[in-house]
Amino acid sequence: MAHGHKSDEKIVYVGDSRVRAKSSRMIPQDFSAYPGKSEVFIPNFLLKEWMVGAVVLVGILVLVMSEAAPLGYPADPTNTQFIPMPDWYFLFMYQLLKYPYTSNHFVVLGTLGVPGIAFGALLLAPFLDTGKERRFYRRPIASTLMILSLVACTYLTVVSWHHYELEMKEKGLIPEHIKREEEMHANKGKEGGSAPKPGAQAAAIVAPDDPAAELYKKATCLACHGGELKGMPASGIPALRGVGDKHSKEEILGIIKKGQGNMTAQYDANIKQGLTDADLDKIADWLSRQKKQ
Ligand code: HEC
Repeated sequence: MAHGHKSDEKIVYVGDSRVRAKSSRMIPQDFSAYPGKSEVFIPNFLLKEWMVGAVVLVGILVLVMSEAAPLGYPADPTNTQFIPMPDWYFLFMYQLLKYPYTSNHFVVLGTLGVPGIAFGALLLAPFLDTGKERRFYRRPIASTLMILSLVACTYLTVVSWHHYELEMKEKGLIPEHIKREEEMHANKGKEGGSAPKPGAQAAAIVAPDDPAAELYKKATCLACHGGELKGMPASGIPALRGVGDKHSKEEILGIIKKGQGNMTAQYDANIKQGLTDADLDKIADWLSRQKKQ
């Protein structure tokens, strides 16, 4: 283009049949025009990435082997008090579904609408945010959206956990992991520190061969307090082992007839089941003899 040629003149290079066309693609392109700013993807860049990848992989493997993955708690179908919670990273979406415009009639908005827009925008981000500028303060829209969603997710997660803790407190529940820890501490030294079996500490059944024990099994009591008198502690139904230490026969008769707290009156239901006053009397008497020896 020098030598006084017109600058828009097209230069045509004539091929030389004696020179073989470039055959090897493995020869890296010449990037000397951009010193320190560029390199070939294969193999230079890829090799570096592989190195980093290998180091990370080894790190994760070491962690995995040194720290066993925690298992969840065994499922307990009798536990009606259980509050199901998603894993921590979904708490914000769980919380989202508690607000008026994302629940009930608007639940589709909460389950599909809002998350759809959010994740859709994330997918489209590379096509929408195409500016050359990389500094975050020069990209006000993208940066604002990112900070807003970060703040929203953090807030929703925190609020969700707070609700959960309040709910636990209201129901008088102790979170399973804390309960286990307490049990472990209480049990240290005993039986080599193994977890106690539920009900292992409870008193034995007094006079299990008493005729009243059979009557008890015909009564409504069985459905809730169980054949072994162990109750369902997880559902707030107390064990009746050792109940004699707490209540006299008269009191137990009173509980059967009038109910107590969450237990409704059981008298009518038992009469309907064919039990008599005398039978209930015997049951109450037998229960009042359930004392820890
Ligand atoms: C529908 C389930 C249910 C049935 C059926 C039932 N109970 Fe209960 N029972 C409970 C619950 C729940 C409590 C705890 C009440 C409370 O204090 O909140 C309870 C408490 C008791 C208590 C007091 C225990 C304590 O530690 O204070 C006695 C005694 C008792 N029940 C006896 C009986 C007898 C006897 C029968 C059968 C005639 C019976 N229950 C049937 C649910 C039931």
